[in-house]
Amino acid sequence: MTPLPELQALLDSIAEEVRPLAARGRVADYIPALAAVDPSRFGIALATVEGGVVGSGDWEARFSLQSVSKAFALAWVLARDGDALWTRVGREPSGNPFNSLVQLEFEHGIPRNPFINAGALVVVDRMLSHTGDATGTLLEILRQESGRADVDVDLDVASSEAAHGHRNAALAHFMASYGNLENDVDAVLDHYVRQCAVAMSCGELARAGLFLARHGVRADGSQLLTRSEAKRVNAILLTCGTYDAAGDFAYRVGLPGKSGVGGGILTVLPGRGCLVVWGPALDRAGNSVAGVEALDRFTTRTGWSVF
Ligand code: DON
Repeated sequence: MTPLPELQALLDSIAEEVRPLAARGRVADYIPALAAVDPSRFGIALATVEGGVVGSGDWEARFSLQSVSKAFALAWVLARDGDALWTRVGREPSGNPFNSLVQLEFEHGIPRNPFINAGALVVVDRMLSHTGDATGTLLEILRQESGRADVDVDLDVASSEAAHGHRNAALAHFMASYGNLENDVDAVLDHYVRQCAVAMSCGELARAGLFLARHGVRADGSQLLTRSEAKRVNAILLTCGTYDAAGDFAYRVGLPGKSGVGGGILTVLPGRGCLVVWGPALDRAGNSVAGVEALDRFTTRTGWSVF
């Protein structure tokens, strides 16, 4: 592994280079609380499997995880449900926006994959069936893996999204009409919105995602996923984690990754570490403009991709 001071210098130069790219994107405004975030912020952090963490820019500032939370929820549910999960949700790239309704009707209420909103609602539904508290379960994983007990839901963001969540409500009711939700639709939506509204920094998130780089092994040495399951989650991150831009993301970055409309992207370097970026200005697919560029530069300069 490259020494940490060298990695620090690399992150510093990438942060400086990509920060101006925010001007090419737009902050998500369909969730009003996210529209208030300063688009020029940028952070990047790398946590290594050896235990080091380096970061640059706004890497210690907390931001809204949004869909990045879906990576952790899927890992938890796959560990419990195994292949049975795939009767409820597919695992193919959608090629459609993350909140699209059309595909769901063609495919009879079975979402294309667990990272589009409909698929994540199914995952939350399974978490609720298992524990009765999908948000609490997610927070427990994030707190334990990041080592930060104060990781929590930003209630302003959650209520802002809940008040404007007509599209997700439509997706959830539609799936319920096909019998593809086990729990009360409003409860599923409530937990989904709160999971999305968890706030963490790049550094915290990079530590939390390390189990995916350690082939399923958690911070305390226990196994969240088997090696084979960790492979599968990483594969779905690569093919579906950045929605209809997943092909372009794989081409440019070459890592499994999960984006969120808060501007965060979590990527996995299997066997090496977890690299997280945050830049709130998004491209048309809902991925951070400066974030994708930073990841592209990082893997191009280090050669650390999965390919
Ligand atoms: O459900 C939504 O629309 C948001 N809470 C999350 C969407 C999201 O982050 C998509 N990712 N790029």
